Amino acid sequence: MKYKNTINLVNSSKPEAEFKRWSGHGLVSIGLVNPKSATNVASILRACGCYGASAVFYTGQRFGYAKDFNADTRQMRHIIPTVGVDDLLAIAPKEASKVVIELVEGAIPLPEFVHPENAFYIFGPEDASVPEDIVAACDHVVYIPTRNSMNLAATANVVLYDRMAKSDYVAGNELIKKSRDNNNGLTI
Ligand SMILES: C[S@@+](CC[C@H](N)C(=O)[O-])C[C@H]1O[C@@H](n2cnc3c(N)ncnc32)[C@H](O)[C@@H]1O
Repeated sequence: MKYKNTINLVNSSKPEAEFKRWSGHGLVSIGLVNPKSATNVASILRACGCYGASAVFYTGQRFGYAKDFNADTRQMRHIIPTVGVDDLLAIAPKEASKVVIELVEGAIPLPEFVHPENAFYIFGPEDASVPEDIVAACDHVVYIPTRNSMNLAATANVVLYDRMAKSDYVAGNELIKKSRDNNNGLTI
């Protein structure tokens, strides 16, 4: 089912406090402009599961035609809503700051960026860029100072990692035990 742009899925389906508990790092959702590769979307879903993002919204038809969740080995698509929408700006979760991640002249380098607590991160497609109207409407525009443009899913992973690294994150052996594969009993 395609959600209408008037629906604020993230904030209306569950209370804010519940999302905060679940993610541990505030409220995070992802917007993808017409993604081409289902593998990239699946990798982003996996990253959402690892770092605690609560929903993925995408525009365009290409992902819908080519759904292939091989990279989503943790089955995050069953937990994290993955929602086709007509307009990412219209679906942007209420109260979230809209953060475009793109190679835009004048953008803030990610290492210097202070992440908003409630953020909607918007990424462009593999074969183009975030459209100008979305860039103009966003609260922040951030780029990663790389020598070439990165793969879409890699970019999302780096942004979510940067957010976690700058947050009051949970660490330790209990988390390691919970996160790793069943056949991994390594200790030092
Ligand atoms: C393969 S890139 C597409 C080409 C990119 N728009 C360009 O101008 O080179 C896919 C998406 O990943 C993100 N991306 C890739 N590298 C990036 C970087 N160094 N900084 C910020 N965003 C990046 C952007 O959202 C981009 O639209």
